[in-house]
Amino acid sequence: MTQAQSFIHRFEPGRRPDAPPLLLLHGTGGDEADLLPLGRAVAPGSALLSPRGKVLEAGMPRFFRRLREGVFDEADVQARAHELADFVAEARAVYGLMAPVALGFSNGANIAAAALLLRPEALAGAVLLRAMVPLSDAPAADLRGKPILLLSGRMDPIVPAENAARLAGMLAEAGAAVQHQILPTGHGLSQADVATTSAWIRELAAASPDSARQAG
Ligand code: MLT
Repeated sequence: MTQAQSFIHRFEPGRRPDAPPLLLLHGTGGDEADLLPLGRAVAPGSALLSPRGKVLEAGMPRFFRRLREGVFDEADVQARAHELADFVAEARAVYGLMAPVALGFSNGANIAAAALLLRPEALAGAVLLRAMVPLSDAPAADLRGKPILLLSGRMDPIVPAENAARLAGMLAEAGAAVQHQILPTGHGLSQADVATTSAWIRELAAASPDSARQAG
């Protein structure tokens, strides 16, 4: 655990230059250790940067305040998304990283979606697991060319299907290359999330300029 920067976080250096660094963003009640095994599984050899959310809800870390389940304190969402984007910039300078691809689950996916809309330059793309619309009145973002994988659960009791579809529409409208898949599962992660995310990250790495340089 490192505390030298603005978020408590874990960092694992990458072993493959063609593998995109991942920004791991845990769900409510998680911490910086939570998604490291998932990151290692879906992107072997990628650098992993994993901060702990700074907001505490009944002692459980989160990335922004909410008024109740599914109802967000949007001023806090905005401030926290900027704070996270600033941390990413700091960490990139300290660790010598390319812009990372966010891999967020639940509350972590929601802050990643907010960061994409408010600070598109902070992220090269994102995997959003069980995300919902983070801001009711988001600014017009330019997400042209950013790859985004959104995985929703058909039986998710927290994220209504209409809300996930609206998020996919907002991101696509901003120019992102959105792949939205609805899996036969609930809010929790399933083996299908791991397999779909692994395949998507493999394709992303194969299409990156670094791998083109290595191949050529
Ligand atoms: C949120 O608060 O971000 C969503 O309701 C997901 C959750 O953390 O339960």
